[in-house]
Amino acid sequence: MDLQRLYSKNAKNMKRSAIRELLKLTNKPGLISFAGGLPDPNVFPTEEIAQITAEVLADEGHKALQYGVTAGDPRLRKTLAKWERTQGLELSEENVIITTASQQGLELISKIFIDPGDTVIVELPSYLGGLNAFTSYRANLVSIPLDDEGMKIDLLRDKLKELHDSGQMPKFIYVVPDFQNPAGVTMSAERREALLELCYKYDLPLVEDTPYRELRFEGTSPPDLLSMDDRGHVISLHTFSKILFPGMRLGWTIGSREIIDKLEVAKQSMDLCTPPFNQAIVLRYMERGLLEPQIERVIGVYRKKRDAMLKALETYMPKDPDIHWTRPEGGLFLWVTFPRKINTQEMFADAVKQDVAYVVGNAFCADGGGENAMRLNFSFPTEEQIPEGIRRLAEAVKARLK
Ligand SMILES: Cc1ncc(COP(=O)(O)O)c(C=O)c1O
Repeated sequence: MDLQRLYSKNAKNMKRSAIRELLKLTNKPGLISFAGGLPDPNVFPTEEIAQITAEVLADEGHKALQYGVTAGDPRLRKTLAKWERTQGLELSEENVIITTASQQGLELISKIFIDPGDTVIVELPSYLGGLNAFTSYRANLVSIPLDDEGMKIDLLRDKLKELHDSGQMPKFIYVVPDFQNPAGVTMSAERREALLELCYKYDLPLVEDTPYRELRFEGTSPPDLLSMDDRGHVISLHTFSKILFPGMRLGWTIGSREIIDKLEVAKQSMDLCTPPFNQAIVLRYMERGLLEPQIERVIGVYRKKRDAMLKALETYMPKDPDIHWTRPEGGLFLWVTFPRKINTQEMFADAVKQDVAYVVGNAFCADGGGENAMRLNFSFPTEEQIPEGIRRLAEAVKARLK
């Protein structure tokens, strides 16, 4: 059968995730991988979950194994609204929809907003899964570079004016404001304010994707965009994937009732509902007050790993004025940039030969750039592997600098 003749334009536009392709090469025994974005499985609370799972089956098995409502278990929606209230937000369960993790939130947002050719503004670099969701609906991505304080708002201001004047207003702006994936940087409070002001001025939705916010190792967080917004422009994506574990595929999206309602309709034809069984388990986990101490445990482990990676970079990377890395105060990643002559795609094979892997910067750059950059993950490798992996990586870099 000639499938190419049959595939939709959207399907033809879908890109295989560069990360998932690269990860296939990294299954080599002995290889130290800084490539994936995986949490450390040693912090998963497996025993507590085993016990709670048995209780859910015994107490409410008939309900938990049945179909559920599309917007999510009302008890979990309520609990999450309450949990967000402890962060200073006045929310009701109608502002919350449970999603099959936050990647589904991105897909749903794309589904309700993007027509082929529509413009979406993203950060440069940005989260690959977000970029792929938007382009699978044939969005035209416009990238705004970021620095250590997040998206450069002066550039955004100019770009919005230009797009406005040419009648190509974006459908929304997408940011990962806290410990960004891939750059590890956090948007400053001033930039958040200015960003919101621009969204108000041009009447644009602002998609805040924040899976890492709770994982702060030091310093204080600027307010989240959702709590700064009093006009219903922000749609905020959350997930249990990094604060608890990703295997149950549970997340939640917060927004105005009107938007949550639309997302619910879009979700009906996507998966009918997020697994009620998983929701019942995580609900009990939260009701027992187990989530907060779990987050503290995760922070403790990742802080040490972040420190180990920064120290190893300092120790092993060649001293070159054009080699820089970000110093994240939380999250799972940091971003390294090299002199122009180092192409991280070309260097990847050398690195795998040295038994170390990373993700090429180009994968995260909607403008096709980032050839001289890479993302490093510090949550998955062990604390012992990190210095050795960075030493191997530095060897590959030194060979290319010669
Ligand atoms: C910024 C960002 N958004 C969304 C996701 C998707 O996570 P999940 O679907 O597991 O919630 C990730 C995962 O790495 C991410 O980094």
